[in-house]
Amino acid sequence: MTQVKIWAVVPAAGVGKRMQADRPKQYLPLVGKTVLEQTINRLLQADVFSAIAVAISKEDPYWPELECSKHKKVVTAAGGKERADSVLSALKSLTERASDNDWVLVHDAARPCLTSADIHYLIGSLKDDAVGGILALSSHDTLKNVEGINITETIDRSVIWRVLTPQMFRYGMLKSALEAAEGNSVITDEASALEMQGLQPKIVEGRPDNIKITRPEDLALAQFYMEQQQ
Ligand code: CTP
Ligand code: MG
Repeated sequence: MTQVKIWAVVPAAGVGKRMQADRPKQYLPLVGKTVLEQTINRLLQADVFSAIAVAISKEDPYWPELECSKHKKVVTAAGGKERADSVLSALKSLTERASDNDWVLVHDAARPCLTSADIHYLIGSLKDDAVGGILALSSHDTLKNVEGINITETIDRSVIWRVLTPQMFRYGMLKSALEAAEGNSVITDEASALEMQGLQPKIVEGRPDNIKITRPEDLALAQFYMEQQQ
């Protein structure tokens, strides 16, 4: 039997509307590099991936200027309309090289604080699993169901998890789940595509510093975490 490989997919074709900056958030500066370079460096440093497929928008003038776009382990794929389309496009760019049984870790370009420790912990936890799963965080705050501004009930916190990336699935299973879900806007992460197939991905508790840069104030927080991690 051939050795199971591990691939990384980075959706980086968003416009970053909530960030309200002059360019997509993955190209904003963070600790001496762009956000996207920091993210790709974290994946390269983990030293487990056969290649990293990055989905980039057709109108993106910034990507070819980055050193890492020419790295021998980095593959460029076309971005799509929604995040799931970008992920599927990046998966397809690996078709010649990846086997159905290989693992793929899909990681947001906008999460530059990912640690090698979390990458290795996720892989170690799921490598013998039939389906795969995702990094997630439990909620420390009490959670409420609300209608308008009226609280209707308190939610059992122990059954609620916040979804992070990477999300780790078998190449073949993930590709067919995303193909089956194409055009379905409810698919905001890879796990939901597999859930639609009736499968139950697992959660693996991740580190709280693996934040997604979404709003302007998140950049300062990401900088703080990166400096703490050094
Ligand atoms: N993404 C993508 N292709 C899309 C939409 C999003 O590759 N069509 C990527 C983003 O670049 C980001 C990740 O998916 O790395 C998570 O999405 P999000 O944080 O929502 O980023 P944006 O869609 O760029 O931001 P916003 O929703 O504020 O516009
Ligand atoms: Mg978005």
